[in-house]
Amino acid sequence: MRTQVAIIGGGPSGLLLSQLLHKSGISSVVLERKTRDYVLGRIRAGVLEVGMVDLMREAGVAERMEAEGYVHDGTKISCGDEIFHIDFKKLTGTPVMVYGQTEVTRDLYDAREAAGGDIRFNVENVVIHGADGDAPFVTYSAEGQEHRIDCDYVAGCDGFHGVSRQTIPLDVRKEYEKVYPFGWLGILSETPPVDDELIYANSERGFALCSMRNANLSRYYIQCSLSDSVDDWTDAAFWEELKRRIPREAADKLVTGPSIEKSIAPLRSFVTEPMRWGRLFLCGDAAHIVPPTGAKGLNTAASDIHYLYNGLKDFYLDGTCDGLDAYSEKALARVWKAERFSWWFSSLMHRYPDQSEFDLKMQQAEIAFLRDNENAQKVMAENYVGLPY
Ligand code: APR
Ligand code: PHB
Repeated sequence: MRTQVAIIGGGPSGLLLSQLLHKSGISSVVLERKTRDYVLGRIRAGVLEVGMVDLMREAGVAERMEAEGYVHDGTKISCGDEIFHIDFKKLTGTPVMVYGQTEVTRDLYDAREAAGGDIRFNVENVVIHGADGDAPFVTYSAEGQEHRIDCDYVAGCDGFHGVSRQTIPLDVRKEYEKVYPFGWLGILSETPPVDDELIYANSERGFALCSMRNANLSRYYIQCSLSDSVDDWTDAAFWEELKRRIPREAADKLVTGPSIEKSIAPLRSFVTEPMRWGRLFLCGDAAHIVPPTGAKGLNTAASDIHYLYNGLKDFYLDGTCDGLDAYSEKALARVWKAERFSWWFSSLMHRYPDQSEFDLKMQQAEIAFLRDNENAQKVMAENYVGLPY
């Protein structure tokens, strides 16, 4: 069979691209190796930049986000028992939307299915052929049958462990990586959030984050050792440690409860260049990974999709290739700024095993400067709410 754009990966990147293409009358097929339920079972971050909010509206999938999402005008940052507020709205005129990535993905799946979108689950052995030529095609197997999809372009939206990035020859691509010496232990609990904003906490015992999904669903994280396993942490041990890392005023009002999800995620910064090879375009986690500190994973995937969607739309509707030809350079320019912010915020808020006393003093001085200087807060706010596309 033939489609205009073959999309590898049915996560937020692939689904958002497919839905936007559909809105412009451009055909696509999404190939997903897991099931819809498996994809929706992944618990990810929950802060959307204004650019992602606008893309959801453009894709026609913003109704539930508008109804159930939380508009946050700022965030709280703490160091030990001291806590201060960064006012995004005052400093940038822009808020952020707190709405779980699982819900974003659910809304996109619902929209694609309502529109009769072609999403194929449980696909195996996906191979991208002829990406460096003029007649690319994708083969895959499913239920013991071999399949071939001829297409004009391939969008590699298959995440960090997908096949798309590996399709680009090693002598063409260059990879950059930083692995952090700690992980995040996260839990989901059906308890009211500890505060009406997020709290990013730097403490002598390590980083912690208090987040939320709704009025009775909270998301908490604590920095943990890479040698930790989820089994090392009972719920009681998690709550006790979290209380020791957040300010006393927050710890005293924290409502604890049983975890309904508990997992450990490693932290890495990763970028592959270029993000295009012939008729193959890499988007989202297939091309780049950030530590979750700045909530930039989905939001950087969103700007990739914005650039690629508009390049494809210009090609199919106006016959111009300028957008596609500029994709990799334009996407990477924003990717690297998101990488920098995520690295900076992670460096500011976490305790590193090899930190010297001097390093700690530098970290505390930088937090104090952020607390006291409105220009420093404006720079942080501009990056957090999202740099322009
Ligand atoms: N064939 C088909 N599908 C694949 C393959 C493959 N070979 N490899 C991976 N996939 C699927 C995965 O099952 C997953 O559903 O591709 C999808 C990739 O989705 P994500 O990993 O969520 O990446 P992306 O859509 O770019 O979203 C980026 O979501 O995962 C978070 O932290 C990430 O916030 C970031 C955002
Ligand atoms: C989350 O709610 O899961 C979340 C929020 C902000 C972050 C990371 C994760 O920076």
